[in-house]
Amino acid sequence: MPSHNVMDRAKWPAFIGLVLGTVVVTNTVKTTFAFDKTVHSSIATLACSGGAIIGLSRWLPRDGNRTHKGGQYEAVPLAEVGQPHASRDPSPSPEDVAYPSSLRKLRIVFLLLVALLGIRVEVMREVVRNVQCSRASWEPIVPLVFAAWDYWAVQRKRRRATNDDDLDASVYDALERSMARSPYSCVATVALVILGSTLAMNALASPASTFICAAGLPFRWLVPQLQRVGTVLDVAIIFCIYNLLKAQDARGSLNVALRFASVGYAFLSAAALLLFAGIVYYIVQDNDRIWILTIPHQYFWSVLRLDLVVAFTVLCAMVMILQVGVMTTTVLTTFTSIMTAVAISAWANGHPFPPHSTGIAFLGVSLAILGFMAYFHLETMHEGSSGNYTTSLFRKIPSAFYLTMLILFFFWTGLWATSKSKVNYHPIDMLIFEAQRYHHMYLDQTAVSTGLAETVTHYQERYGQQPPPGFDHWYRYATERNSTVIDSFDSIHHDLDPFYALEPQQIRHRTWEMIANQWNDVAGISIRNGQVTVAPNIVPTHRWMADGLAELIGKFAKWLPDMDLAFNLNDECRVSVPYEDVVPMRQIAQNKRLNQQQRRDDARTSFSDGRAEQWKAIAEDEVPDSPLEEISWQYSFHRFGSVGCPPNSPARRLRHWDVGSFCTECAYPQSLGAFLSNWTVAGDICHQPDLADLHGLYLSPASFKGTHELYPLFSQSKANGFNDILYPSAWNYLEKAKYDPNDDNPDRPFSEKNDTIFWRGATSEGVSQGRGQWRGMARQRFIHLANNINNSAPPQPLLLPTERGGKLSYWTLPSSELTDLLKADIHVVDSIARCAGPDCEHQAEEFAPLVPPSDFQHHWTYKFLLDLDGAGFSGRFLPFLQSRSLPFKAALFREWWDDRVTAWAHFIPLDLRGHGFWATLAYFQGLDGKIAGGSVEVKMDPHVQAAERIAEAGREWAEQVLRKEDMEIYFFRLLLEWGRLTDDRRDELGVRI
Ligand SMILES: *[C@@H]1O[C@H](CO)[C@@H](O)[C@H](O)[C@H]1NC(C)=O
Ligand SMILES: *[C@@H]1O[C@H](CO)[C@@H](O)[C@H](O)[C@H]1NC(C)=O
Repeated sequence: MPSHNVMDRAKWPAFIGLVLGTVVVTNTVKTTFAFDKTVHSSIATLACSGGAIIGLSRWLPRDGNRTHKGGQYEAVPLAEVGQPHASRDPSPSPEDVAYPSSLRKLRIVFLLLVALLGIRVEVMREVVRNVQCSRASWEPIVPLVFAAWDYWAVQRKRRRATNDDDLDASVYDALERSMARSPYSCVATVALVILGSTLAMNALASPASTFICAAGLPFRWLVPQLQRVGTVLDVAIIFCIYNLLKAQDARGSLNVALRFASVGYAFLSAAALLLFAGIVYYIVQDNDRIWILTIPHQYFWSVLRLDLVVAFTVLCAMVMILQVGVMTTTVLTTFTSIMTAVAISAWANGHPFPPHSTGIAFLGVSLAILGFMAYFHLETMHEGSSGNYTTSLFRKIPSAFYLTMLILFFFWTGLWATSKSKVNYHPIDMLIFEAQRYHHMYLDQTAVSTGLAETVTHYQERYGQQPPPGFDHWYRYATERNSTVIDSFDSIHHDLDPFYALEPQQIRHRTWEMIANQWNDVAGISIRNGQVTVAPNIVPTHRWMADGLAELIGKFAKWLPDMDLAFNLNDECRVSVPYEDVVPMRQIAQNKRLNQQQRRDDARTSFSDGRAEQWKAIAEDEVPDSPLEEISWQYSFHRFGSVGCPPNSPARRLRHWDVGSFCTECAYPQSLGAFLSNWTVAGDICHQPDLADLHGLYLSPASFKGTHELYPLFSQSKANGFNDILYPSAWNYLEKAKYDPNDDNPDRPFSEKNDTIFWRGATSEGVSQGRGQWRGMARQRFIHLANNINNSAPPQPLLLPTERGGKLSYWTLPSSELTDLLKADIHVVDSIARCAGPDCEHQAEEFAPLVPPSDFQHHWTYKFLLDLDGAGFSGRFLPFLQSRSLPFKAALFREWWDDRVTAWAHFIPLDLRGHGFWATLAYFQGLDGKIAGGSVEVKMDPHVQAAERIAEAGREWAEQVLRKEDMEIYFFRLLLEWGRLTDDRRDELGVRI
């Protein structure tokens, strides 16, 4: 048959295309944006694949035997669902009527396929929406179903049909043949492939994240059921496709091209069906309209890329089904896909953490390879013996096939041989040691200079600039107050550098724009002749903050030039200039410095005259315009979080949509095993796309009015990538949360305190307005983890000593055992804050019982204090540091003191993902008990002395560099620099001594 020749030639390209396509899809799908809008993406993908299939069908021969009639058969069902059919003549010929049963059958299959595709998309959408509740997938059994079906439909009958006739075969041949003839052999080899793959997949599955699968909501049982339904639907869909492509009708096979096209039309119809459903939804549900129509550009490109690869892969799969049948195609796809996934996972996880059983994975992969080879061996032998249309993939298995399998096997042998599961020393031992060294390095450069002249020289060397006018007053101010930090104020320069790209006049105007409109939630503070005044249009509820600032600035205002300052009254940071814009801005500052380095002695030593008039007056009446955009209660990561990252960074390119899985690559750069090793790197979001769903600021900020333009806005804290200017918070300056132990709540020596880790607070990190955002917020996740609510917290790692040789290894323990072994008292107080719709009730249920608020001074009862971000920075951290207790801190926000305080030397850092929480606590608290269901006894001594040393070091250091005086000194220096930046002659200004 001519059609067979064409298709035969397509076999090899299709085979290679399917393998490559599967590898790429498996790899891409993990980080695609497509699941942000599952239905949109599905419509695009179905349409794209359908189009590709129809396109290909035009290349296929249309005049095989019985083409004419075949074409007519299929035209009818298509016409019925309203797909116009330009290329065919729709008028039925009399013969059609003669075969009504096959006609009806195909019609039904077609409609069924369309319906199944539609339902499949909806099931997928539901699963993706609560993907943290999903379990291990059933998808690998799909080939097994087809193998069983093959056994049922073909092999059983074949056995009866064939008679043996080979008389002069060797024993080996005979064995091989009898295997080939055995009706079970095919099922057995497929089962081996599936067993091995599943084994490997489970051994290498990424650990569960702390994203909450709420115990009180139905998703915990619903989502796994839906996953199973999804698998059944997949089998049904493939079955339908197979039927459309291959089923025999009463008069022999239909024309290949038209069969092919009919599958394409089914895809298109499913896309149309979904589109129609989407339009109906759009009309009915007016809340979601904006969301439905908004297509962010990352999403667009990501889906486009995925679409093309998926369409290509589906196309290859169709050709393969046509050529070698559905069983071989699914076996090939499943094997390729799982091998790709586990290889990537094993390659990325050669470390002791997260703990993986590489041995079992190796065993699984070996079994799968064995099964896979056996399968094709058998399949090759069936060639020719089969009466049906299907040909086998290989006439003779090419040596390249064996070679590939061999390479795969050796790759895994290598991985297995090099994987490590034991740790020689506890990472925290090393982290503490390193932190002390780091802190000493910091000390060595904070106060190198003695005397003003030397400080000025040092400033010039360090910052490539003259110090601003007034620097001598600052120096005196700082030394009179015994400032430990004299030379290193890098964060000020880092914050201010981009502003050198703006003209002073522009900065002044932008300051006015911020202050003039009350809607902006910005407080204006004016300095005139050394007097500080608060602008009249401030929101009354935030008055205390502006007054506190006025008091703070008032301490040194007499040395400041006249200027206006715009202070962010909200907790959230706001100014997020895209990376592409801010890098050239920083470059401008850099270049200016290079130019200025020569000129030293002609500096103008005082600020320009007449500065007061340059600042436009702040009207008391409303100015309607605002450069700020309202994004409160909206998802903000990609619009305002990651734009500050380089375009090729993971935060901008990748979407970690599977919030239920722990993102190893995201945590790896700042981790040593399960422990956070580098606080600075942890604050950099650019390699951490998963943070998009793990913090209130990104999920749904409470009051976020942001801009992409460089506006001069002073904020108390900021996340990485924001360009707000950090200043010491009035909250801390006014001691709104004060370290003030009393007789009822004394701050006893560390060893006398309660061993428990303690936290009290509200759910105020972000607003959960009805879409379940609370399940990702850091506060909620930590509470959930620490209490193992309704036994629904995922298993977590602990690093425990093994019996021999003082080595340690990671155990993944169920949270129920962890809450027994370790002591935590972490609760929400009062009532659920910042929620709307069903989320209030859901949270109240999940976090019940809510405890009464406790006195802030009660904290000092406990050895370990947990500190978590709120809507902005945590105002409690400084008092925690001042106390004799040891603070544990997990935070996205960074404050003005960030480079002064060293993690592991002054406090214990935790990763925002929470995976190190129990393991870190275990190191300090120690544990003694039984794990693994009571079968293994473990004992780890508490590191009390290390804990006490860090608690004391933090306390002493806070008394030295985080006093109210230190806030003044930092602020004074910041405002002198700011005074220069806003001066028309800023390039000429400087001190002369
Ligand atoms: C953290 O990493 C940064 C960048 O790699 C490095 O400069 C810094 O020294 C590290 N900090 C510590 C405490 O090791
Ligand atoms: C320590 O605090 C926990 C929780 O607040 C409490 O249950 C426990 O009884 C306290 N232990 C001692 C020895 O007071």
